[in-house]
Amino acid sequence: SIPVITIDGPTASGKGTIASLVAQRLGWHTLDSGALYRLTALSCLRRGVDVQDQAQVQQAAQNLNVRFDYPQIYMDGEDVTDAIRQEEVGNLASRVAALPLVREALLQRQRDFRVAPGLVGDGRDMGTVVFPDAPLKIFLLADAQVRAQRRCKQLSEKGISANLTSLLADLRERDERDRSRTHAPLVPAPGAHIVDSSQLSIQEVVDKVLDLWSG
Ligand code: CDP
Repeated sequence: SIPVITIDGPTASGKGTIASLVAQRLGWHTLDSGALYRLTALSCLRRGVDVQDQAQVQQAAQNLNVRFDYPQIYMDGEDVTDAIRQEEVGNLASRVAALPLVREALLQRQRDFRVAPGLVGDGRDMGTVVFPDAPLKIFLLADAQVRAQRRCKQLSEKGISANLTSLLADLRERDERDRSRTHAPLVPAPGAHIVDSSQLSIQEVVDKVLDLWSG
């Protein structure tokens, strides 16, 4: 079957960056699964969907009209690449991601990304739920403080000013919600390799994943 490398981990652990660099090196496709939850959240915001109403959010997830043209992402023909990265959207994404019907609605869409010659998928449940048969699973960690600093830098590079203290608080809140939800909680998949990137450069993490892949 078509190989998949899964990279799961908490918010701002660097999953997306690592996933795209690993995919680039292998000549594989990528799946940014978090983007699907962010797109669902954005769609709810724009349509005024009540996120307490699970059936309505499920509809929004089911009906997402999106096109991935990495790094660009389009919804209903509009470039929403930057819009979905806003913290407000990220926070709402973690809330809609706790709804089982929403996760179910996005499941097949995610599996459809598994196209030859291979896929690197990043998220929270790539190794546990979406691609349980993946031959290599990574669980990427980093200290909360380090992650808050990275997120801060990432935002400031985009010209968005951010406050480190409130970022750290948001990040802890989101970690807590991702870990404690009953459906697809953030936990390492069985057999996942735990990589703590707190003290590692991006290149070191990429090399580690490629080493694990080539055995
Ligand atoms: O950038 P960050 O890691 O904060 O977020 P993301 O990976 O873009 O995901 C946004 C939100 O979607 C997360 O807070 C998770 O709650 C949720 N998510 C999920 O539940 N399952 C996934 N496979 C990916 C993301």
